[in-house]
Amino acid sequence: MAVLKVAKLGNPILRQMAQPVDLNLLKLSTSDIQVLIDDMIDTMREEDGVGLAAPQIFQSLQLVVMECSLNERYPEAPKIPMTVLINPVITHYGDEKVMGWEGCLSLKDLRGLVPRSEKVTVEFFDREGRPVTIEAEGFHAVVLQHEIDHLQGKVFLDRMTDLSQLAYLEEFDEYIADKEAIDSGSTQ
Ligand code: NI
Repeated sequence: MAVLKVAKLGNPILRQMAQPVDLNLLKLSTSDIQVLIDDMIDTMREEDGVGLAAPQIFQSLQLVVMECSLNERYPEAPKIPMTVLINPVITHYGDEKVMGWEGCLSLKDLRGLVPRSEKVTVEFFDREGRPVTIEAEGFHAVVLQHEIDHLQGKVFLDRMTDLSQLAYLEEFDEYIADKEAIDSGSTQ
């Protein structure tokens, strides 16, 4: 178990298409890929992320971990159970779009307003190699879209439609977060 270094925007690995994971490599619990998954979980927790994609730790593989329990960076965020997604594909996007503020461990200290589908269906394999289909909505759906984008060389900036809605975290907290709460009547 180890906490890994996180690739920052500008590193070419974040712009590459990630390669599918060979499911045969999941069979041994001591295999390199299982160790990598555990290290990614450690790294995500250490960095207070709600998701981490393998290219962010310098592995160009279609592998994502996500979890949201009590998170200091997203204190109001709904819970997401620990999920390991191998070779994930979004098979359905809901028609409804939502705008939400996103951050990324590879663009630390930035927040941007990003349009996403409110609902998605995702097919993937779990760390035992079993096929899984999940339907997610709201924050969970946004995290899935954000992380799966990383496997296609995309970051949230690429999805923004208005770059004036990009802020440093400190300024976001000072000028935007409170105003959002008053405007929308919620703390999300
Ligand atoms: Ni990210």
